[in-house]
Amino acid sequence: MKKFEHVNRVLSMSNGEISIRGWVYRKRGSDNVLFIIVRDVTGIIQCVISKNDVSEHVWKNANKLYIESSLEVKGKIHKDSRAPGGTELIVTELTPISIGEPFRISKDFSTEFLLDNRHLWLRSQKITNVLKARHYVSNYIREFLDSKGFYEVVPPIIVKNECEGGSHMFEVNYFGEKAYLSESGQLYGEALIYSLERIYVWAPSFRAEKSRTVRHLAEYWHIEPEMAWYSHEDNIKLQEEMIEHVVQKFVDEHNDILERFNRDPKILKKVKAPFDRITYDQMVDRLQSMDIKFEWGDDPGADEEKALTQELDKPLIIEKYPRGMKAFYMRPDPSNPKYVLNDDILAPEGHGEIIGGSERIWKLEELLDAMKQFNLDPKDPSYSWYVDLRRFGSVPHSGFGLGLERFIKWLLNLDHIRDAIPFPRVINRVYP
Ligand code: 4AD
Ligand code: MG
Repeated sequence: MKKFEHVNRVLSMSNGEISIRGWVYRKRGSDNVLFIIVRDVTGIIQCVISKNDVSEHVWKNANKLYIESSLEVKGKIHKDSRAPGGTELIVTELTPISIGEPFRISKDFSTEFLLDNRHLWLRSQKITNVLKARHYVSNYIREFLDSKGFYEVVPPIIVKNECEGGSHMFEVNYFGEKAYLSESGQLYGEALIYSLERIYVWAPSFRAEKSRTVRHLAEYWHIEPEMAWYSHEDNIKLQEEMIEHVVQKFVDEHNDILERFNRDPKILKKVKAPFDRITYDQMVDRLQSMDIKFEWGDDPGADEEKALTQELDKPLIIEKYPRGMKAFYMRPDPSNPKYVLNDDILAPEGHGEIIGGSERIWKLEELLDAMKQFNLDPKDPSYSWYVDLRRFGSVPHSGFGLGLERFIKWLLNLDHIRDAIPFPRVINRVYP
């Protein structure tokens, strides 16, 4: 985008003329002149077609084009401060590639209509820019983890166990046997630290939560680092550094994308480690002092998260939740086993939780104890392999999960998480 903006991908250049190809983005004109804005992946350029300067054939073809028709055009580059981007193309030749039908998205921009036509709405400047941002963010995450000695691994997607509790899992008929779509690759990631030490799972996770919110997808992309020898403190430090790295790099290299989302880079520049950190108990106090009805033992929802972060520039870390509220694998705090060594990171400006992580129980007896409390059978083959990991050279370890779409939603300040993924899966939609 940056390098080629408003120049478009040039196919050929000869005698001072260039050829480009792309799609009709906008079209307007009069009896004698047509202005066709052509878009390609690099940006847009205005193409000017004057009836008197082109053949009759070109003029006729140009008039037949619809929004989103594909075409190739040839002409001379002309600097004009009035043209979008400051440059236009004075057309000499024009070849429609596919004129097609009148574009379906013209007047009706209702959310449902755009979602029904997602396969076409993906061409919009908005979604195009989100998807570019997503690509860059993914690169920065990989680059960061790679620099810290991590290996990327893949987990199975069809599983028999519950990582985060089974109430929100999609069932799969696995050759007549009941299985699920994985809600987290973490347990499998843990098995891989005994050889690779620092790994990250990059895979989709599935959540059958019946929540119709602006931050829940039924299928989202989950990045889950897992690290041998990392303590709770090491884990938090890594999360902070990763977020800082990605945000700072993005601001430095893709200010143009931020501008399109009216995102002030100065605010994002403040996202520097360390972040503010409070315990679960302190969060309860803070919420109560804001006159929000919230009892010890409650899980903060969207409203509470908003209240806690809407005035903040930096993410907020909430650590040490009461044990029974979180997953079975989290290590109780040795200095107060009523709590676990976990942390959630809330994005600022009310965007909500982007990371959930913890130190893991690594001693066999402690794990058996926890599984009993959570009614999980350590002999069940769905879990026995996980228990085994504590039998053979177990080590202290920690990890976390970042929801990629949640992160993008915050970075670009999107209203809804569905715009952070090309084909969103939400409660009432499984197509296109
Ligand atoms: O907090 P969660 O449920 O934690 C886990 O799954 C752990 N096993 C992660 C780990 O320690 N390896 O999910 C982690 C993150 C959340 O913080 C959020 O960013 C994202 O996954 N997430 C969702 N994103 C979109 N839609 C949903 N329904 C999501 N549920 C969780
Ligand atoms: Mg969570």
